[in-house]
Amino acid sequence: MAATGLISESEAWIDLKDHVAEINKTHLRELLTDTSRCEGMIKEHDGILIDFSRQRATQKTMEKLFSLSKVAKLEEKIKKMFIGEHINSTEDRAVLHVALRAPRTEHIFESGRDVVPDVWEVLDKIKDFSDRVRSGTWVGATGKPLTDVVAIGIGGSFLGPLFVHTALQTEPETAKAARNRKLRFLSNVDPIDVARALNGLKQETTLVVIVSKTFTTAETMLNARTVRSWITSALGSNAVSKHMVAVSTNVKLVKEFGIDPENAFAFWDWVGGRYSVCSAVGVLPLSLQYGFENITKFLEGAWSIDQHFRTAPFENNLPVLLGLLSVWNASFLGCPALAILPYCQALQKLAPHIQQVSMESNGKGVTIDGKVLDYEAGEIDFGEPGTNGQHSFYQLIHQGRVVPCDFIGIIKSQQSVFLRNEIVSNHDELMCNFFAQADALAYGKTPEELRAEGVPDYLIPHKTFTGNRPSLSMLLPTLKPYTVGQLLALYEHRIAVQGFIWGINSFDQWGVELGKVLASRVRTQMNASRTKGKPVQGFNHSTTTLLNRYLKVRGL
Ligand code: F6P
Repeated sequence: MAATGLISESEAWIDLKDHVAEINKTHLRELLTDTSRCEGMIKEHDGILIDFSRQRATQKTMEKLFSLSKVAKLEEKIKKMFIGEHINSTEDRAVLHVALRAPRTEHIFESGRDVVPDVWEVLDKIKDFSDRVRSGTWVGATGKPLTDVVAIGIGGSFLGPLFVHTALQTEPETAKAARNRKLRFLSNVDPIDVARALNGLKQETTLVVIVSKTFTTAETMLNARTVRSWITSALGSNAVSKHMVAVSTNVKLVKEFGIDPENAFAFWDWVGGRYSVCSAVGVLPLSLQYGFENITKFLEGAWSIDQHFRTAPFENNLPVLLGLLSVWNASFLGCPALAILPYCQALQKLAPHIQQVSMESNGKGVTIDGKVLDYEAGEIDFGEPGTNGQHSFYQLIHQGRVVPCDFIGIIKSQQSVFLRNEIVSNHDELMCNFFAQADALAYGKTPEELRAEGVPDYLIPHKTFTGNRPSLSMLLPTLKPYTVGQLLALYEHRIAVQGFIWGINSFDQWGVELGKVLASRVRTQMNASRTKGKPVQGFNHSTTTLLNRYLKVRGL
């Protein structure tokens, strides 16, 4: 590598840049006729099948990407992650979310301490507590069982648990385990979200779980105080000990808030917020809803992918292949976005979760040692379940910008509907679209084909599809706790691979700080205006005008 040390100066990177011209000479229409290429690009692990053959890549591309992975020291970085090295160097922390799903018999060390017993101590505590709540042994202040849970948290303390909850809500076995129970999430500080989360709930049957790694996040703490007041106004201040528990790394602040440390569920600073769904952040609320046994299956699914990621050779390693191909798309083929398109309504919160994991992890402008990147890192993630997305933004993907797509299909649906007079069932109809969309993007439709169909000349440009638009197709056998865990870990590790190749720190998030500081300045001024009638000062013309309008109309 040359003087600056950026990977973009390496021979492997330059070689891939040059290779783009070669790939541009081919069309997916041709690439898909090469059966041996396609066979080599369909990979399987533990029931998950991923077909990469609709990526704009050949075996040669893959070899060049593997060379790039050597330059980036990918293998070494993966190893360092699993052995608890402080790879999050700007915060001097290990990145050990994989330890959260390790079986009891494993040993994973952080600063010389085996963290697996610590993980299981908390898991055992969650099992005990959730069993007691679910069985009605732990009751509220008036002696009634706590059937409803409100989990208060934001960002990583919300999106992962919501994703898993949404995925399990309609699965027959987990739905049965959740019968007569409710799980709500309160994330936004918006009073509308407070009203929505509490709507129809009664204090005497509600358990509140405050989820915050730091226990300082302004929105979460204000919501926690609001909901505490909702509880105590109906049940008295002693009710807090029965109706409020916390998940945090900061037990001191939990105690100061008024929650008995006995009712606090710990996790550790080697778990990043957006990677924390397998800690008490997700496991506690989800176990309260679905029972601890179901949630351990979710952890087992994630662990299966962890082991695959750690040990499988790169040519068969699903997260590595996903990560390398997404770097190829973003950094070489010029596609900065990724559409995550599950053909499964239960996965409707996958894209919002991955959006945070990916964009907060890899949205960086400098390398891990502080050098300004001369290439773009990070990827713009968005998505909706099919077929809804087809009737929304797919137009742009088919004829506008090139957006690589992840199509995710489930072979056996959680639900079945089949009317006797229909040709196919609802699920088969859904999956017809899953299979069709990937080919529509790859092949497109040529002017010649349109002419042969008798399309008038003036419509030919409008009806032409260029095709050659990359996607991958992933098939999962079912959507149960285990496969939800697998899917989660696949995406988590894919994002880590991207960051390792780009040479950035995927595990800090300094970019969220500035807005928080500025909000605090506004808060101070708003308070001064309300209590002392002080005029707004110190902001630019735009902010002063907007703030004054807001205060005037609000009557503050
Ligand atoms: O603002 C972003 C963030 O720091 C996320 O990384 C984190 O998941 C979220 O806020 C919530 O933080 P906490 O769990 O500490 O309340």
